[in-house]
Amino acid sequence: MAKIRSFDGMSALVTGASQGIGRLAALELARRGARVALVARQQDKLEAVAAEIGALGREALVLPCDVESKDDSFAAAAKATARWGTIEVLVNNAGCGRHARFLEWDLADIERMMRVNFLGSVYFTKALTPGMVERRRGWIVFVASVAGRIGVPDESAYAASKFAMVGLAEALSVELEESGVHVLTVCPGAVDTEFFDAEALARMPPVARRSMIRPEQVIAATFAALEHGRHEVTVPRGIQAGYVVRAVAPEFMRKQVKRTTIGKI
Ligand SMILES: NC(=O)c1ccc[n+]([C@@H]2O[C@H](COP(=O)([O-])OP(=O)(O)OC[C@H]3O[C@@H](n4cnc5c(N)ncnc54)[C@H](OP(=O)(O)O)[C@@H]3O)[C@@H](O)[C@H]2O)c1
Repeated sequence: MAKIRSFDGMSALVTGASQGIGRLAALELARRGARVALVARQQDKLEAVAAEIGALGREALVLPCDVESKDDSFAAAAKATARWGTIEVLVNNAGCGRHARFLEWDLADIERMMRVNFLGSVYFTKALTPGMVERRRGWIVFVASVAGRIGVPDESAYAASKFAMVGLAEALSVELEESGVHVLTVCPGAVDTEFFDAEALARMPPVARRSMIRPEQVIAATFAALEHGRHEVTVPRGIQAGYVVRAVAPEFMRKQVKRTTIGKI
């Protein structure tokens, strides 16, 4: 049940589907046979993605929504469910980022980051999981980040929002397993999307800039993980070594993080 190869005839909902990783995830789901509900704020971009899905011969539903809003998020999830009866695949991907030192990071922006990156995923998961459990069939993907496994300078509030997401997803993956609902956490490293504006790119440590990957690699790794029934995937895989070092030699890891970031950003 957990492993999934075909999405044929399934209904999916992707948040942050207007561009970047979310757009590619929605297109890949459509290519594999699913109809896809598209959630984000920019309606024109969602319409463009819906047209791409239409060209693939699949149905798309455009649901403009700010995931910061609990009411709007529940309403979007309800519209998708009303249209197709059930949502079997949820991709919690909407997110925002910023590079700043904690002391310079205004509180309002820290709160916004938690609402968008963490609470937005809570709202859609709360809204759609009961239907999955009732039918004993569902897949929930959390697009978290390596920043949700390793805290680095200049990303404190972002890392906190992604650590929260990783914790939620890890607990849910166990809680829901017997209910027929599979949970996958995706932890990408730095990905070449519009997520990084020029200022963010300039502040990025050289080691992260050098190892930047294409969003297509995140999609390939995500779908491979779903096919194999995995619960977590890090892209690129080599970064996982850092998790082991962090667990067994935390002081050494701190020094490594400091060496590659402080003074370079
Ligand atoms: N790029 C990276 O290096 C990287 C690395 C690790 C993890 N990630 C994660 O991957 C996910 C996708 O990022 P990306 O690289 O594809 O970035 P992106 O190109 O900036 O896309 C972000 C998406 O999230 C949506 N979004 C942002 N705020 C929203 C809000 N308040 N309500 C609804 N939708 C909202 C945006 O749509 P609208 O603007 O239309 O609302 C957009 O579709 C994020 O969760 C990010 O944290 C990215």
